[in-house]
Amino acid sequence: MKGIILAGGTATRLFPLTATTSKQLLPIYDRQMIFYPLNVLVKAGIRDILIIISPEHSGHFLNLLGSIFDKNNIRLEFKVQKTPRGLADAFIVGEDFIDNDNVTMILGDNIFEDDFSEDIKNFKSGGKVFAVKVPDPERSGVVVFNEQMKAVKIVEKPQKWLSDYIIPGLYIYDKRVIEVAKQLEPSNRGEIEITDLHNWYLERGELEVGLVKGKWLDAGTFDSLLEAGQYVKEKKISEKFDPIINQAIMEFNEELKALAKKKL
Ligand code: G1P
Repeated sequence: MKGIILAGGTATRLFPLTATTSKQLLPIYDRQMIFYPLNVLVKAGIRDILIIISPEHSGHFLNLLGSIFDKNNIRLEFKVQKTPRGLADAFIVGEDFIDNDNVTMILGDNIFEDDFSEDIKNFKSGGKVFAVKVPDPERSGVVVFNEQMKAVKIVEKPQKWLSDYIIPGLYIYDKRVIEVAKQLEPSNRGEIEITDLHNWYLERGELEVGLVKGKWLDAGTFDSLLEAGQYVKEKKISEKFDPIINQAIMEFNEELKALAKKKL
């Protein structure tokens, strides 16, 4: 299983914060946002991770993550996406990286309380996504379930209410996703849509839709960014991180302190 974190984009909703750095490097309480999706992947045993970034902030990502996991057998790769073409484009950008493996893609601004390790470890083929109930489903990809809670359709930002369940930014697919993504036509907003990928697998009876336990936040607005920080502090989410990540952050902090001392 390979892992991809999508951390590109311009994040206009967070201007002026994102005029100086990437959204995924903004703080969620005591660590940068990118550590939360990284934790989901590392906890599930994924050791090969591609981070897709935009050109303006590539140096910032390298400063933070360039050597932090060197000792832990976690291989991070970076790829620059010059213009954001939609979430499904991550699988095209990541084609060589995915190679012949399965892939878990997570959006760099999605914060989950749930642990998906078993779903990721047990995944064999097809697609697996997750659903979560929200008060504002019209902002996302909406999933309609039948009475047996089997997903019957998924619609990107429907104008009329269909369901309160949406598909947040964690997607597990087999390698066919690369070819399927290449065949997608851009939507009205000019993007190739992740929802079209879900539907490709759903139509073939190969998409499993699980339910998210606990809280899900997409930290893409001022309010959700603040809420995410408060939430992870209250729930002590960072204490539940994979020890590899906590150890790496601690050592990095020590290094920074030692450097700061030298400069004095
Ligand atoms: C994207 C996807 C949508 C998904 C959402 C999760 O929306 O298109 O299907 O539910 O992420 O965060 P966007 O943030 O691009 O509007």
